[in-house]
Amino acid sequence: MTRVGVVGTGGWGKNHVRVLNEIKSLAAICDANKERSDTFSKNFNVPGYTSLETMLKAEELDAVTICTPASTHFSMASQTLDAGVHTFVEKPMTTTVKDGERLIEAAKKANRTLTVGFIERFNPPITGLKQMISEGKMGEPILFEFHRENKRGENISDVGIVKDASVHDIDTACWLFGEVPKVVYARVGALLVPLEHEDFATILLGFSGQKTAFLVTNWMTPNRVRTLSAVFIGGVVDVDFVTQQTSIHEGPVTTVATRLYQEPLMLELKGFVKAVEEKRQPLVTGTDGLNVTKVAEAVLASSSSGAPIHLG
Ligand SMILES: NC(=O)c1ccc[n+]([C@@H]2O[C@H](COP(=O)([O-])OP(=O)(O)OC[C@H]3O[C@@H](n4cnc5c(N)ncnc54)[C@H](O)[C@@H]3O)[C@@H](O)[C@H]2O)c1
Repeated sequence: MTRVGVVGTGGWGKNHVRVLNEIKSLAAICDANKERSDTFSKNFNVPGYTSLETMLKAEELDAVTICTPASTHFSMASQTLDAGVHTFVEKPMTTTVKDGERLIEAAKKANRTLTVGFIERFNPPITGLKQMISEGKMGEPILFEFHRENKRGENISDVGIVKDASVHDIDTACWLFGEVPKVVYARVGALLVPLEHEDFATILLGFSGQKTAFLVTNWMTPNRVRTLSAVFIGGVVDVDFVTQQTSIHEGPVTTVATRLYQEPLMLELKGFVKAVEEKRQPLVTGTDGLNVTKVAEAVLASSSSGAPIHLG
């Protein structure tokens, strides 16, 4: 059994705890909030800690998943890698490019896996779309248009919508195109109180040739919208990330792909544990996490300057 500890059992971390318990890999939990730590420790019958340092010293863990706020990711992941523990860090990997580079170095030095919670890669319709692209039946994709809109979650306060939410679609666009963008143009802004961070972002990513991704993200739309429309030379594929439905439009014909609903987090964490057990690269690498942070920083820089940012 691969022994995994979860740090942070809040709104999202509680799902890591549930899934890792289901796949019999949950070994310990840690939350700075004593009440939460006690509750999860009791409910899942595993040791509970309020400090990561104490958990790492007391438990012989193979791996840790980090589900604490974004601003803590760098220090948490540095500690786990330094302790020789394979590390899954929720998105964004780090809030700055510099910290991302340091984390990749730390993983290399420790010879341990570093992966990031870009869960949409594990969402079955996205896996299916990646497969369609590699089979080339519809020709090359030329445009991905993403919509990720909803009311702001209660818990997010340390980063804005670009580093919290747009990062999912930035990663998916890079993964589906198989490259990082060459140019970034964006307009972001803050409309909701408190105005500490941006809460809407409209982003244009230019890839090689004429390949483009257009990302619309906001915390204003009252209902939860998470969609992707992929335009190919030979047709259009519409994906709903929530219902997991895929509609394929070729000429006048629309086909709706039916597949069984599968929980993306279950697929993601099973994939992480398997990569650790088989001592191989996970689907999402530290470099992928760093590239997404680079693009997110370019998004913010483009919006402040009003100019496109060319990535070297
Ligand atoms: N992949 C996804 O779809 C997805 C969805 C939601 C959130 N997330 C990510 O998960 C992470 C957590 O988000 P959340 O919504 O659960 O936040 P949250 O505020 O609900 O939970 C964070 C938890 O971390 C604990 N914590 C904070 N500092 C700590 C420390 N130093 N040591 C131990 N515990 C500490 C808090 O007590 C809290 O229980 C973020 O990185 C977020 O971006 C990912």
